[in-house]
Amino acid sequence: MKKNNRAKKILIIDFGSQYTQLIARRVRELGVFSEISNHKQVKKVNAEELFGIILSGGPLNVYEDKKINFNKKILNLKVPILGLCFGHQLISRHYGGKVITAKNREFGLATIKKKLNSKLTKKFFDNHKHRNVWMSHADHVTKLPKGFKGVASTKGSKFTIIENDAIKRYGVQFHPEVTHTEKGILLLKNFIFDICKSKKNWSTDHQKKTLIKDVQNQVGDKKIICALSGGVDSSVVAQLLNKAVGKQLHCIFVNTGLLRLHEEKQVVNTFKKKLKMNLIYVNAADEFLKKLKNITEPEKKRKIIGNLFIKIFEHYAKKLKNVKFLAQGTLYPDLIESKSVTGSQTSKIKSHHNVGGLPKKMKLELCEPLRLLFKDEVRKLGIKLNLSKEIISRHPFPGPGLAIRMPGKVSKDKIEILKQADNIFISELKKEKLYDKIWQAYAALLPVKTVGVMGDNRTYEYICLLRAITSQDGMTADFFDFPKNFIQNVSNKIINNIRGINRVVYDVTSKPPSTIELE
Ligand code: XMP
Repeated sequence: MKKNNRAKKILIIDFGSQYTQLIARRVRELGVFSEISNHKQVKKVNAEELFGIILSGGPLNVYEDKKINFNKKILNLKVPILGLCFGHQLISRHYGGKVITAKNREFGLATIKKKLNSKLTKKFFDNHKHRNVWMSHADHVTKLPKGFKGVASTKGSKFTIIENDAIKRYGVQFHPEVTHTEKGILLLKNFIFDICKSKKNWSTDHQKKTLIKDVQNQVGDKKIICALSGGVDSSVVAQLLNKAVGKQLHCIFVNTGLLRLHEEKQVVNTFKKKLKMNLIYVNAADEFLKKLKNITEPEKKRKIIGNLFIKIFEHYAKKLKNVKFLAQGTLYPDLIESKSVTGSQTSKIKSHHNVGGLPKKMKLELCEPLRLLFKDEVRKLGIKLNLSKEIISRHPFPGPGLAIRMPGKVSKDKIEILKQADNIFISELKKEKLYDKIWQAYAALLPVKTVGVMGDNRTYEYICLLRAITSQDGMTADFFDFPKNFIQNVSNKIINNIRGINRVVYDVTSKPPSTIELE
């Protein structure tokens, strides 16, 4: 997407808060475009492109100047600025206030008390004197900067909301962006509309039109390829490109043999038959199985599948000749490196293989039309592009597929058993209207056989593990608490219908300490 195509925005400067993405989403939900920049990377800002600035929270201490690599001139720009948590302390200190380590740190819910009326808190307190808010801080402001007024306080912290309306600087010690803060969205609304005078410029319809135009500008009359997996992101990319450049788009769909039951048929039906796209269907199931023979080590499985996928993709892409672009379903969270703000590197837990595969040797130019969108925005866009609810609300599925849902060796028999078990579980979730309440659910096959008894006969068969989790983004997760009898019912159906399984267990671990997938 061309930069100057974009309308005015709220700039969110990230200081490493775990909630930064949430701030951006809240602003966009209010209909205003927002972008996140790492505080170390924003050197120069053009105030004319901004409605206002929000400074995020973060793990740093404002009094440790040397550790903060941030161009403080930005704080003098002639645009409204709202600081949250660390941002609140940064504004306070910049304008002559004092920030020190608090005697009593405040984490979790706290009650704030109204002191004065203010622009930022219009309608926030209503007729109440108090509000419950979400805190997460160890430092606090002890001296108000000159020209500011203290709008609210807690027992331990005198200046919880501050404001200087003359220079349009506002600070809030808590997190209005999290749902635990009562009426928090009102504070953001007041800032964005009443104070910044933002115009609504962010809706799904607007996104659809702009993105189609952007793709047309980028691709021109050249050919573009897209690796289609049938998952939400690649489906939305493919359909967006289809609307933008039609037959110049060529999708390649690789059946690894490790997909969910009937998945390959659904993909071909939807994209080739219904949506009339150029779809190259590659059945490579035997090849994948051959390469995976006797492999048990999870990372080895992942590498083999990822490499073979790219090899096959490259082979078919080359056959198309004169391809100039490669489309990828990169999303906004993939681009934001808020983790690096604290200097810490996240350790590698698993090597994720994204089907967007990167044939580097082919020197293709990337086209990433979803790169400014969050997952929920991608889903809404998909609906606007007439993709079915079934595709749009589908649970995530990993690139290496069923291979990482059967610890130990991968075999045709096991894949068949697992496909059936997973299908029963998912069908029951849909029947009981639980599917959309769950972020991801699947069945796995454990490489252990146990003894059972069926019809007076001894059985010796595999254990099926069921996993269902709730999550915001897959980074952390909790197990889903099923209504009584549901799991028992699924267990009966699996055991009665599938030969090879005589025991079903339900995984009740969260992430961390476990991961969502087994390998
Ligand atoms: P973990 O197991 O790391 O999974 O807790 C987090 C989320 O990522 C998905 N996942 C993958 N997605 N390629 C993908 O496209 C992969 O290699 C991969 N591995 C895990 C997983 O299903 C969950 O949604």
